[in-house]
Amino acid sequence: TWTMGAFRERAIARIREQVGTGRVICGLSGGVDSSVAAVLIHEAIGDQLTCVFVDHGLMRQAEADEVVSLFRGHYNIPLVHVDASGLFLKELEGVEDPEAKRKTIGRLFIDVFDAEAKKVGGADFLAQGTLYPDVIESVSFAGGPSVTIKSHHNVGGLPERMNMKLVEPLRDLFKDEVRALGRELGLPESFVGRHPFPGPGLAIRCPGTITREKLDILRKADAIYLEEIRYAGLYDVIWQAFAVLLPVRTVGVMGDGRTYDHVLALRAVTSVDGMTADFYPFDMAFLGRVATRIINEVKGVNRVVYDVTSKPPGTIEWE
Ligand code: XMP
Repeated sequence: TWTMGAFRERAIARIREQVGTGRVICGLSGGVDSSVAAVLIHEAIGDQLTCVFVDHGLMRQAEADEVVSLFRGHYNIPLVHVDASGLFLKELEGVEDPEAKRKTIGRLFIDVFDAEAKKVGGADFLAQGTLYPDVIESVSFAGGPSVTIKSHHNVGGLPERMNMKLVEPLRDLFKDEVRALGRELGLPESFVGRHPFPGPGLAIRCPGTITREKLDILRKADAIYLEEIRYAGLYDVIWQAFAVLLPVRTVGVMGDGRTYDHVLALRAVTSVDGMTADFYPFDMAFLGRVATRIINEVKGVNRVVYDVTSKPPGTIEWE
């Protein structure tokens, strides 16, 4: 019979067999997938593994610190934390096109990661938390032609350039199975149950150009939205929820003054694997509460809208 415990044992044996006495380097993104892959590989080969966390400055509030403390503090897994936010934001200046953002972020990620890998003395293997849905990245809708909707920056590019073989212990798993494996490995529930977060981070939740100021607004609004979702006990029934800062300003009135500020869109979907999704039917009182809090507490936003598009025809992220 198939159990997570048995999968764990087999995966560990397979990693040991593949890696031998080689050195493995793993890029942590802060998400569940790369974290579970890292913990599993660490269990298999211990200090032959080095983790590198490239902080691109596009994470949510407090997220970078959470990752670092989980790995260094809780697991004692060697972790190199590189703050590259200055570089990423500089190179993203003026970039508007969603795929151009992904390409820029992907290229810089590879540059920074490569440099760090050399600093730690190189590695023979590159570990990635690739899941089954990432493998079948090209999605075919309703029997139509297979098209790539969005390029995923965490697959491809790196291994060729660095001349390394791939270790991908989660390749056969779906998201819910990765979570089960994470629990099996003793990762905290608060971490395992996290909503997925895209590699390019907040860059693709800021349609148009990205600035430090916009990212700060987005972080604050997103944190309030997620806090309210948790208060309402809805975090675990939702697959992904986030705010999107629109490059649109509208007129509003606050106190006795006119405002002219950004529109913020809220998104929440249910899904099994991210391939299809339904918008989450919040009650209006909840949405009203969130909107009021965001407009009162976040300077720069004076209007909040809710996205009622499912996937297809929408995608989960706006870019
Ligand atoms: P979409 O927006 O394509 O998203 O419906 C499906 C799932 O993939 C995530 N996503 C990404 N993840 N790099 C990633 O690592 C990306 O470029 C990327 N784009 C979308 C998205 O958050 C959702 O979970």
